[in-house]
Amino acid sequence: MTDGASNDAFVEFERVQKSYDGETLVVKDLNLSMPKGEFLTMLGPSGSGKTTCLMMLAGFETATHGDIRLGGISINNIPPHKRGIGMVFQNYALFPHMTIAENLAFPLEVRKLGKAEREEKVKRALDMVEMGDFGGRRPAQLSGGQQQRVALARALVFEPELVLMDEPLGALDKQLREKMQFEITYLAHQLGITTVYVTHDQTEALTMSDRVAVFDDGRIQQLAPPDKLYETPENSFVAQFIGENNTLEGVVKEIKGNTCVIELDGGEVIDAVPVNVSKVGERTRVSIRPERVEYNRDRLHEDAHTLKAEVLEFIYMGDIFRTRLRVAGNDEFVIKTRNAPDQVRLKRGQQIEIGWLAEDCRALDA
Ligand SMILES: Nc1ncnc2c1ncn2[C@@H]1O[C@H](COP(=O)(O)OP(=O)(O)OP(=O)(O)O)[C@@H](O)[C@H]1O
Ligand SMILES: [Mg+2]
Repeated sequence: MTDGASNDAFVEFERVQKSYDGETLVVKDLNLSMPKGEFLTMLGPSGSGKTTCLMMLAGFETATHGDIRLGGISINNIPPHKRGIGMVFQNYALFPHMTIAENLAFPLEVRKLGKAEREEKVKRALDMVEMGDFGGRRPAQLSGGQQQRVALARALVFEPELVLMDEPLGALDKQLREKMQFEITYLAHQLGITTVYVTHDQTEALTMSDRVAVFDDGRIQQLAPPDKLYETPENSFVAQFIGENNTLEGVVKEIKGNTCVIELDGGEVIDAVPVNVSKVGERTRVSIRPERVEYNRDRLHEDAHTLKAEVLEFIYMGDIFRTRLRVAGNDEFVIKTRNAPDQVRLKRGQQIEIGWLAEDCRALDA
């Protein structure tokens, strides 16, 4: 990647590697460039290097190789208190001997704000996380989720330029988590804060972020806005990791510009977009989203290749029908169709034909 050098980049990782033991690289070759005000989420399986990247950006860990820059300046040259970074980590402790209000006022005192302004900002920040009545308590007198909310308020109270959050909503119940997701993104955008957010939860990543960096094995597998990530995954890992996905395995028979012909392992032939296959004879996994599959013949293109399928399960979900099929030897092939007056409701055991637009079917690495 060469776009790391652009001038308006606020946060930059350039060819960053990290090893804790001098042998294994847990971050392998990380390139990332964020403009000011962006909300970026690092999403990926456990152990893929997300927290390590955040710790390097915060300055608690140093990169083994490469450079990390903040506002164009290498992070090693900026003392921690001048980095203007707010942090919320999963185990980021509050000061136990201070009350909640004192915890929040602390970063403001360090920045020499007057008493009246401090009080106003502390109140606003506590109200934001629905902890307005708890200012006088100490951290030990709060539940884990409440402490987490206070930690969030403390990270935002001094309106930092950059906020790092490592699974800040993990301890909260679903309802509060969704409310906080909205509050965090609203606030970050409102205040123009640049945010690096870490989560395991793909729905959270898709709904909150301007861009999502999908991590696996110490590398960014794809960095894109949510819709791009979901609709045009660049490899099998991303296709599987983001959203529900159907996979069929086969071999490339023909490539012609933007389309290719795939012979599935059972002998069936389908059309697809060649995404990361490059030659005939190569093995591939094709990926099709459940809502892009059609079984109503009237709605299928005349020239579309179709596949035979057997209905294994039909679930009525109100707004959509979710049907599990056996397709080309795959028993976990799922399709989702919108509940419309003319939409056929399938029955278990029924034999049908399914199809899709070639552009919705992506031939990825095997
Ligand atoms: N202080 C450390 N010393 C040695 N190895 C470490 C240290 N911290 C993390 N690791 C290792 O580095 C790898 C990446 O860890 P990291 O915490 O960055 O993953 P993560 O993506 O945040 O995972 P999770 O989603 O579980 O929080 C893991 O294999 C982990 O065991
Ligand atoms: Mg982590």
